[in-house]
Amino acid sequence: MIRLLPMDAWVHEVVALDQKISPAPWNAEMFLEEARLGAWLQVGVSGERTLAGYVVARPLFDEWHLLTLGVAPRFRRLGLGRRLVASLLGAALARQGRCVVLEVRVSNVAARLLYQGLGFVTVGVRRGYYRHGPYGPEDGLVMTWVPTAHDPDEGSDKIIFD
Ligand SMILES: CC(C)(COP(=O)(O)OP(=O)(O)OC[C@H]1O[C@@H](n2cnc3c(N)ncnc32)[C@H](O)[C@@H]1OP(=O)(O)O)[C@@H](O)C(=O)NCCC(=O)NCCS
Repeated sequence: MIRLLPMDAWVHEVVALDQKISPAPWNAEMFLEEARLGAWLQVGVSGERTLAGYVVARPLFDEWHLLTLGVAPRFRRLGLGRRLVASLLGAALARQGRCVVLEVRVSNVAARLLYQGLGFVTVGVRRGYYRHGPYGPEDGLVMTWVPTAHDPDEGSDKIIFD
């Protein structure tokens, strides 16, 4: 079973996981600074002790920015990434968020499909937005989500969430 929790006590585990899976990992200070600025930071925890994933989003008035998202390789394709983002959409809705905005690498098909499945649409391209990564400089797609009558649809999960 995986529980979604505030990131508070999990920052060091999140940094360790982010360093493994992100082309441009954050350090602990970056996560803590977002928390100080009022960002929304959640983790998915398997059992009592195992970090499975994380998401960070910052509200800017009524516009929310999804800043980072990651799922540990052994917990992928189980619905956790979708659940973390759906949970963010729910939080944005609850706080009168008008939209959620994010950038995603053009090459990141998994993330693009995840976002599309939740109703995000591509609204622009930032040329060379990502300066470092496995493919060198890379464009970022700008995707946005706006609430509709049926949001957020969390799809069908393959693991049990608490
Ligand atoms: C992108 C990422 C968060 C997806 O997490 P996940 O928990 O595996 O995703 P989910 O199981 O919730 O998948 C939801 C949907 O996303 C899409 N998807 C996820 N991984 C995919 C893959 N490898 N290939 C194709 N589609 C994929 C599918 O549409 C999937 O729905 P389905 O399983 O019903 O077909 C994860 O691969 C990851 O951490 N990647 C590295 C970090 C990263 O890219 N973060 C996003 C930065 S913008």
